[in-house]
Amino acid sequence: MKKIENISLKKEINRKKNIIFLLKSKKKSLPTQYLYDDVGSKLFEKICETEEYYLTRTEYKILNSNSFDIIKASSAEELFEFGSGSSKKTKTLILSALKKNKYLTYFSFDISSEALYMSYDELSKISENLNVRLLKGNFNLDISRIEASKKKRLYLFLGSTLGNFNNKVAINFLQNISNLMNKEDSFLLGVDKVKDEKIINLAYNDKRGITKKFNKNILNVINKEYKLNFNKNNFLHNTIYNSEKSQIEMYLKSTALQSIKLPNNENLNIKKGEKILTEISRKFSEETLERLFAKSNLKVIESYTDEKKYYSLYLLKIKKYL
Ligand code: TRP
Repeated sequence: MKKIENISLKKEINRKKNIIFLLKSKKKSLPTQYLYDDVGSKLFEKICETEEYYLTRTEYKILNSNSFDIIKASSAEELFEFGSGSSKKTKTLILSALKKNKYLTYFSFDISSEALYMSYDELSKISENLNVRLLKGNFNLDISRIEASKKKRLYLFLGSTLGNFNNKVAINFLQNISNLMNKEDSFLLGVDKVKDEKIINLAYNDKRGITKKFNKNILNVINKEYKLNFNKNNFLHNTIYNSEKSQIEMYLKSTALQSIKLPNNENLNIKKGEKILTEISRKFSEETLERLFAKSNLKVIESYTDEKKYYSLYLLKIKKYL
């Protein structure tokens, strides 16, 4: 089994304080990263395969039709993917990159070991000339520990994961990537676009209830991590589209008055009907993206989309060097 390189710095005290703060706030929430433990990462892979979840399929199609072009336009000699999950979609890019380069290193960066192993399983047999490196960490906290490369690197951030960050975190993330990038590096970003609300709503409320399981799993994770007593049966899965903010908001809605013991042993009452935000998924317009790129010193050199313009990929470079 391939060795995982753990580059994460654990800040134990802050994490506990943060959980208490988030749960005691008027608008309650939980850190999104807890959705992606080993069980959650597998459930997310299943969401990607549902009929309603158009994102993965569409992104895959765009990647597949343009992979050689992307590799050519970026002159990539090395690939580095943030939040790689199973790396299934990336395979097509790797194959194209291997046509242009004899040897290739692919860095898979994820918070879940299970995801990293899935990625390794998916890719290790492709070619002897492909070196797969598995890096474990949190892409917001541990990005400063990633080393830049002497090779022309193509950074990948797919699956519209950028949409899971609020505006401030998104800008911060893009700025971190642009600081990490050398003159010759490129960055491929995949994002979901604003569209008919009905289509979006269906994607986040699949009829087989996998998104519901994915959402509720966060309670198992934090119960284990912080020895809490959340009861999954006292919450409903609740996902709505907030059209003002152009974002999906996923909540756990309390079905009864209940008391939770916090990590500092304090009791917290959660009322019936009260909601805990577990994740947002923003849908982007061209204008929002332009603003984000401008603030991060990034410039679009190429963009790719599908016939219905549901989803887009942007190939970016550092602006100051162009
Ligand atoms: N990156 C995925 C997305 O934004 C994550 C996701 C899957 C998700 N299902 C979700 C986010 C449900 C919020 C709610 O689509």
